Amino acid sequence: MTAEKQLWYMNAIFYEVHVRAYRDSNADGNGDLPGLISKLDYIKELGVDCVWVLPIYPSPLKDDGYDIADYYNLHPDYGLIEDFKNLVQAAHERGLKVIADLVLNHTSDQHPWFQVARSDPESKYHDYYVWSDNKEKYSDARIIFLDTEVSNWTYDEEAGQFYWHRFYASQPDLNYDNPDVRKEMLNVMKFWLDMGIDGFRADAVPYLIEREGTNCENLPETHEILKSIRSSLDANYQGKVLLAEANQWPKDVRQYFGDGDEFNMGFHFPVMPRIFMAIKEGDATPIRWIMSQTPDIPAGTQWCTFLRNHDELTLEMVTEEERQWMWQEYAPQPRMRLNLGIRRRLAPLMDNDHRKILLANALLYSLPGAPIVYYGDEIGMGDNIWLPDRNGVRTPMQWDDSLNAGFSDAPPEMLYTPVITQGSFSYKIVNVAAEKVDPNSLLSRMKHLIQIRRENPILAVGDYEFLATEVKQVLTILRKLDDEEILCVLNLSEQTQEISLDLSPWNGTSPVDLLSGEVFPTISNNPTSLKLEPLTYHWLNLTRES
Ligand code: GLC
Repeated sequence: MTAEKQLWYMNAIFYEVHVRAYRDSNADGNGDLPGLISKLDYIKELGVDCVWVLPIYPSPLKDDGYDIADYYNLHPDYGLIEDFKNLVQAAHERGLKVIADLVLNHTSDQHPWFQVARSDPESKYHDYYVWSDNKEKYSDARIIFLDTEVSNWTYDEEAGQFYWHRFYASQPDLNYDNPDVRKEMLNVMKFWLDMGIDGFRADAVPYLIEREGTNCENLPETHEILKSIRSSLDANYQGKVLLAEANQWPKDVRQYFGDGDEFNMGFHFPVMPRIFMAIKEGDATPIRWIMSQTPDIPAGTQWCTFLRNHDELTLEMVTEEERQWMWQEYAPQPRMRLNLGIRRRLAPLMDNDHRKILLANALLYSLPGAPIVYYGDEIGMGDNIWLPDRNGVRTPMQWDDSLNAGFSDAPPEMLYTPVITQGSFSYKIVNVAAEKVDPNSLLSRMKHLIQIRRENPILAVGDYEFLATEVKQVLTILRKLDDEEILCVLNLSEQTQEISLDLSPWNGTSPVDLLSGEVFPTISNNPTSLKLEPLTYHWLNLTRES
């Protein structure tokens, strides 16, 4: 376990940044790399370990950069390769890691490979993509962008054939049966790793390979390709992380860890909506259930957990009934819904109640895994559901109450998207400058939570066990690592709860709440009763003095 603690990502907290949204250094209305560099001190102070930057490559931006037109360059809005090198260096100087998005599954239709592929069927690039003369193939594959796409096949006039795409029609899937495609991607990885980055968040990995008669997800051939990517990474670099975006059930994500020879990390998608269910209902059952469905993972691998990200809050990993309930509770207006999800940020989902936001984070941090903070959620930013697609959760970071929230010096009409100005989420109220100086602000309390979590790697990598209580509103998780023990107790409800726990194995211990410093009464052989205020949580240190 000691060796595991030394793998930097095992106990890391990640911070997800949309560079376009973060800080504009040249007053063109778009955030950029020099802008991000100028805010690294803020990120460091937040207490996180690693910055994940969303795609910053040249792109027609039909999917906000997940449609890449050149893997070896940067979108001019963001800066030059030199700026990227500066980012990595400046981050490393502060002890921060940097990971980039690796979009393996598809390119933009503007990528030169696709341009040649469609115009010249004889060229080697034609076979870089997946073509067919009809739309009948792979009919068991679902459509992911349900609100916009009617088929995974689109007819290309120039090629006179249909091409395959799991996302927007402007994102043709690469053909991973072609060894040249696999080689190209290894070169892409090498290019960015040689600039010193610390790894990749690998986008949409379940869909690399298509096979007739399957749903074209999680296929064995896909895993073989991913394993070979990992082995070439390991052969040439050390201490890098590969994080899998596979929006799947835990037993299927388990496959992406292989025998410790595929991904180092994988997102735990299904726990996320269940945190929202548990808090809305004041009932710990969904959490206990999903964790019971979560298999052990190999030594040296880690779950990556999150509450929100740059996409819609996905409801793919819930039942139809649960999805309807989540929509009804969290997305009452149709405009709040998108595909199979909800296009809202954390704070509005939590009724802007800081107790609930902190509870949701504390719950996330009480479970095994390395959590992600989505930029802006640490200050409780709001959303704008009227913007297209998922742009409503990608509005400019709110730094202060000056023009454009301190995001940009450009005239407001030049911003890539408007700053949030309305109601209680206005940048006049919700901003870093105001929260920084207020010890009770969401930002200050998030920093504290992050700090305590990081000081206690047991919460990231330790074993866990749910202790039995009669009260379903309360979640009690015993975390263990070597001879350390922490009892996480969370009251998920808006009412005061009293629980009684058999803590006799810790007879004689006086637990200290790691978060508040409060010392709890010494445990005896009698049941211990705890009174829990609404929406509160404690991390009780039960470690016995040796
Ligand atoms: C991933 C990204 C999402 C993108 C999609 C297609 O799911 O998170 O933003 O649209 O892949 O690249």
